[in-house]
Amino acid sequence: MFTKKLIIAMMFILMLAAGSVQAGHGDATRGAELAADCADCHGDDGLGDEDYPALAGLDAAAHIEMLNNFKGSDSEMADYVEDLSEQDIHDIAAYYATLSGK
Ligand code: HEC
Repeated sequence: MFTKKLIIAMMFILMLAAGSVQAGHGDATRGAELAADCADCHGDDGLGDEDYPALAGLDAAAHIEMLNNFKGSDSEMADYVEDLSEQDIHDIAAYYATLSGK
């Protein structure tokens, strides 16, 4: 009885672990190409300026959430995220996470 519960608990933990790994799974190299469109405003180095927030060093999971939240919003950013697939977003987030922030 105890063993069965333990196995179920272990499986649950493994599923959670796999999920979180997947959430951070983006291809930073592909993301760098996609990010060329973002550089116009957010800068080649992702550091932004007084008008545009910095993206460099953003935690990938937080970045993914922000981009998804811009979809359908009335922010200027909505236009730049609407054509991005979930994979694009993960790749872009992975790329900016590799840059060092201010
Ligand atoms: C035309 C200029 C422009 C382009 C191009 C652009 N952005 Fe933005 N971005 C903005 C502005 C302005 C804001 C702040 C407005 C807001 O938060 O509603 C912003 C905010 C953000 C934020 C929120 C940052 C924070 O800390 O709140 C993220 C993340 C972001 N942009 C990512 C991107 C990515 C990724 C791309 C490329 C796919 C991109 N942006 C392209 C203008 C731009």
